[in-house]
Amino acid sequence: MIRYNLKYQLFFSLLILLNTNSVIGQQSIPQTASLKSIFKKDFLIGAALNTKQIEDKDPKSAVLIPQQFSAITPENCMKAEVIHPTWDMYNFDLADKIVAYGQKHHIKVNGHTLIWHSQLPAFVRNMQNADSVKQFFNNHINTVASRYDGKIFSWDVVNEALEEDGTLRKSIYSQKLGENYIVEAFRLAQAASPKSELYYNDYNIEQPTKRAGAIALIKKIQAAGVRIDGVGIQGHWRVNHIPFKDIEESIIAFAALGVKVMFTELDLGVLSNPWDKDAADVSQTAQYSEKMNPYPNGLPDSVQTQLANNYEELFKLFLKHKDKISRVTFWGVSDGQSWLNGWPIRGRTNYPLLFDRNFDPKPAFYKIVALKQKD
Ligand code: G3I
Repeated sequence: MIRYNLKYQLFFSLLILLNTNSVIGQQSIPQTASLKSIFKKDFLIGAALNTKQIEDKDPKSAVLIPQQFSAITPENCMKAEVIHPTWDMYNFDLADKIVAYGQKHHIKVNGHTLIWHSQLPAFVRNMQNADSVKQFFNNHINTVASRYDGKIFSWDVVNEALEEDGTLRKSIYSQKLGENYIVEAFRLAQAASPKSELYYNDYNIEQPTKRAGAIALIKKIQAAGVRIDGVGIQGHWRVNHIPFKDIEESIIAFAALGVKVMFTELDLGVLSNPWDKDAADVSQTAQYSEKMNPYPNGLPDSVQTQLANNYEELFKLFLKHKDKISRVTFWGVSDGQSWLNGWPIRGRTNYPLLFDRNFDPKPAFYKIVALKQKD
């Protein structure tokens, strides 16, 4: 297995030597090109942070995150299950910490997520009474969104509310509150957090049928005179299975509604799935087998190259539409933390991000950076 980045690292270290004297002073910290600086004029570059990273308990992340990213999203700690575990009790510990982390490093925080059918606290999952669901809904949005008004840049107000055919997902919210609950969620968030941008976030909304559902949803919110600032295409795709044409059509279609377009949970899995169709619905899982975990000890160069070429192609598309795209967030910082190591099959070794398990940049990183060197 050739040491893939030596050639690249030497080239870029030379570049930094030429550009950034201050770094030289800090001999101990290896310097790498910075995604956030390189794409500064194009769009924010973000990453989802786990608990260890939010609490700065991961030395390598502690260097890499402020160096590379201009936006962060909490992977789990702002979800209702964590932040609102019982009826009248909120747990803002980690949420406060990621907000403080963002303020300390001048990094924009995207709140994820106020209203989602998954990762709900037990007291909500078992609710039968519609009035109780409504009270939870109002209290949760008002309490959480108002706490961080002016402190966080944006919210995924509603996450994954559509079925694959673009119709409203059947959830405790649609069943107990009716089909207008999404408009109401944005209305409440607008009042509770006037200083934050408000987004609808989902997976597979680049696909024409589900995209049509998302467009109808955005138009419904706008028609109600309620603010929606952007739409998040999650971007959980697989190497060699990226729907580039659908993605470009989606960027253009959503931007035509006057909202910002973001890629909010980008990762490119290199492992096949038992059903071999793309989705991100965590309720779908499958049994472990060695056949389904082919790269436990490292990624073959051929797949590494495919991954790098796919990311390069994606970023060429993002740069082509940089006037419409406000943020590209990776769902994690390094391969080791990716949810795709445990989904849909637990115990696999996946390689979906730009930094490897040692937090070293992968060929995909250098391919993306090189796009801007050509500018
Ligand atoms: O915190 C508990 C821990 O106390 C317990 O010991 C452990 C044992 O299972 O579970 C821990 O909770 C896990 C949590 O991540 C924190 O690590 C949950 O089981 C696990 O299900 C949860 O997975 C998260 C998943 O959302 C749940 O829906 C993933 O980390 C997170 O990456 C993933 O993110 C979602 C986005 O929010 C929305 N879009 C799809 C994306 C991928 O599914």
